[in-house]
Amino acid sequence: MIAVAPLPAQDAPAWEHLTFPLFRPQLQEPDVLCVAASCGGQPVGLAVARRGRTAQLLSIAVDSPWRKQGIGGRLLAATLEQLSADGADSVEAVYIAGQPSTPALERLLQHHDFAPPQPRMLVCRALIATLVEAPLVAGRRQPRRGRIVGWDEMGAHTREALHEEASRPGACPDWAWPFFDEARIEPANSVVLEHAGRVQGFMVNHRIAADTVRYSRLFLFPGAARGAGFALAGESLWRQHERLGARVPKGSCDLEVANRMMLNFLGRHLRPWLTSVAVSKVARKVLVPQAKAVGDPAR
Ligand SMILES: CC(C)(COP(=O)(O)OP(=O)(O)OC[C@H]1O[C@@H](n2cnc3c(N)ncnc32)[C@H](O)[C@@H]1OP(=O)(O)O)[C@@H](O)C(=O)NCCC(=O)NCCS
Repeated sequence: MIAVAPLPAQDAPAWEHLTFPLFRPQLQEPDVLCVAASCGGQPVGLAVARRGRTAQLLSIAVDSPWRKQGIGGRLLAATLEQLSADGADSVEAVYIAGQPSTPALERLLQHHDFAPPQPRMLVCRALIATLVEAPLVAGRRQPRRGRIVGWDEMGAHTREALHEEASRPGACPDWAWPFFDEARIEPANSVVLEHAGRVQGFMVNHRIAADTVRYSRLFLFPGAARGAGFALAGESLWRQHERLGARVPKGSCDLEVANRMMLNFLGRHLRPWLTSVAVSKVARKVLVPQAKAVGDPAR
């Protein structure tokens, strides 16, 4: 007999193998909802979502022997119900297309009235040992102006200069904010380009798993010298190889499918050295407000 119910935070560790490494440390956060499927108290499936007006379905998984028995459907239904009860008025599901489970997931979403999925990001994976052979990294050049400083080498002055530059109205769009998710910024290979007391650009990365760095933001402020982006990317990747090496052998990068400039950069300078390139998709659903539960006099 399978039970499906929200998972109390203290029980999350026993279910964490049923989600991605990225989300495991977040399962006990207050805005994260876990809905568990169990058989005799043993973990069988898990759905993970982030609450909010626009909630996000982060992952859904059923242990392989238990698949195709409707458990995924029950997990999704219970998750949507709980998110709606918690105040969400819509939910987004983001996933990587072309995986073995994609047909099952897309059927689940379709059965639960999500709108047809749309392409969202290009998800690139790489091994740093291969990436360092790309001319961009192997033949990396010093910037024409200024010098590259590591995140862990930045003094208070450079940090303040970066903060000031990024806070200047119109200088740095929200998606490029360099201090995003600061606790997980990888200090060993995040880098900034400094010139004459100002910061001209940065490449900021996050450690998303013990063995993986995500290349999160490569950004140049207006007026940066030509080639500054090449210099930052080459230096950052080289530092991962030099300083983290076999301990952190993997890299990943998500690019918006609308970001033509970065897609061209990637296609021309790094594509042959990547391990895989996949498309992530997003499917959205508007939630109908939940009827009030037990004790509601209107029922
Ligand atoms: C996606 C997943 C959670 C579905 O769980 P499940 O318990 O098998 O789902 P259900 O039994 O409720 O089936 C859902 C639908 O998918 C269909 N389906 C299941 N496996 C399928 C497959 N391999 N190919 C095509 N359709 C499949 C089912 O037939 C059902 O559709 P139907 O009702 O029209 O018959 C499960 O495959 C899984 O854990 N995959 C690995 C984790 C993963 O990749 N998750 C997605 C990204 S987070």
